[in-house]
Order: sequence, then structure tokens, then C-alpha cells
Amino acid sequence: MDWGMQNRLSQILKPDSGHTVMLAVDHGYFQGPTSGLEEPGKTIEPLLPYADALMPTRGVLRECVSPDTQTSIVLRVSGGNTMARVDELSDEIITTSMKDAVSLNVAGVAVSVYVGSAHQKQTLQNLSDVVNQAVKYGMPVLAVTAVGKDMVRDSRYLSLSCRVAAELGAHMVKTYYCEGFEDVVRGCPVPIVMAGGKKIPEKDALTLTHKAIQGGAKGVDMGRNIFRSEAPVAMMKAVRAIVHENASVDEAFDLFNTEKNT
Ligand code: 5RP
Repeated sequence: MDWGMQNRLSQILKPDSGHTVMLAVDHGYFQGPTSGLEEPGKTIEPLLPYADALMPTRGVLRECVSPDTQTSIVLRVSGGNTMARVDELSDEIITTSMKDAVSLNVAGVAVSVYVGSAHQKQTLQNLSDVVNQAVKYGMPVLAVTAVGKDMVRDSRYLSLSCRVAAELGAHMVKTYYCEGFEDVVRGCPVPIVMAGGKKIPEKDALTLTHKAIQGGAKGVDMGRNIFRSEAPVAMMKAVRAIVHENASVDEAFDLFNTEKNT
């Protein structure tokens, strides 16, 4: 990899641990003002210091995130779907040019792929096109394995999705935890970060985080399980303890409860 690609990757996967805690706040690209992100700036600002990277769209980045931030940005560059046409969520395009991503000085870009969906080829084409552009600029590409409507989110499906994304040139892959997660990791030649998924009790989310790290994930890219937590900053700190300090679930949950009450 060229210097620029390595340097950008090190802004995401921190050199001291090789891991990352990413905060996903890109939900509005297809969900609109979803709960917890009604006012993105107010949600993001207190959490930024605890995120190794933030995953926004360019609109939220430009309008809601201070350019003074020292938190790396992984910019969502695919979209074109909305909950108003929920049957067509896989019908994505590339929404943001590589030139704009570079001008926004981001550390990486993110593209969703919908393996097994009606628009499988289109989303894999999107990923391929973004990778073809990204490598010219030393820009890492994070493939986000969205789950096709009729697909079963098991290790067989996620292994296929992650490996295909890596084969097409993704530098990192974001995918869900599942039973047999270590097989998903083993079959994917690039780093995997665990997607947070729908909001679940904090201890359960910390348990999934711990299992994913033990299973070989290099971190997490969490949104709803952070910003919909009763104590988002405390949850970020607890997730960081597992991802960067090898904390146990109990240690992290104790930290969450201590920080929650601070
Ligand atoms: C869609 C996405 C979401 O926009 C978001 O990044 C998901 O984050 P979380 O599941 O942790 O709320 O990636 O596929």
C-alpha cells in the first residue's frame, strides 16, 4: 500500500491497538431524522472525543461537524434509497464523488453492498467503481454489508458478503455479529468491524462487542447502540474499554454504570 493509504488507515485502525471504535451517524441518508439523530450536531458533539472515527454523510459532516475535529471521518458515499420505498433499499447509487471526499479530507469512504438482493450487481458495481477511484488517491474503502431483504443473516451469508467485498477491493468490511463469526473473519482477508445493529440493552451490546473482538474483529462501527443509549458517552467509554483495552464484559458494564452516574 502507498504511504497515503497506510496513513489514512492508521487514522481509523489506531496503531497502538490495531483496533477502532467508529461512531455511525449516517442513518439519515435513508431514514431521515431517525430517533437519536433528529439534531445530528447535538448528538455527535459530546461523542466525538471518544470516537476513533465518525461515519457520517457529507451533508451531516459539512453542516453538523466542526472542521476543527481531530476525529477521523469515514464518509458514506453510497445511497439513493429511502424508507419511503423500503422494498428498494438495495437500489443504491454512488452519491459522493471521490474528489469531494478528498476535498473533505476524510480518512476513508463507505459503500453499502446488498449481496443476494435484487440490486446485488449494481451495489457490487458501486463498490468496484469507488475502489477504482479510491486507490488513485490512497483512500481506504469500507464495504458495509447490508442484508438483502430475503436473506438470512447467518455466517454463511455474511461470509459470502464479506469475502466478495474484499475480493472486489474493499480495504475494510463492516458486518454483523453472528454465530460462527470467527469463520466470517477467517474467510475475509481484510479487517472486519462489527456493525452495532438495532438498539439492544447496553450489556447485550457490550457482550456482542466482546464476542466480536474475541472472534477477530478489529473493532466496531456502532450507531444506534451508542446514541440511543441512556448514557451515550458512558457507552462509548465502555465499548472503548473492550475494543482498545481488552476489558471483559463485566468490567466494561461496570464502567458504563459508573460513568452513567457521573
Ligand atoms: C446501513 C447502515 C446504517 O446507516 C448505520 O451505519 C448502521 O449503524 P448501526 O446499525 O450501528 O445503528 O450502515 O446499512
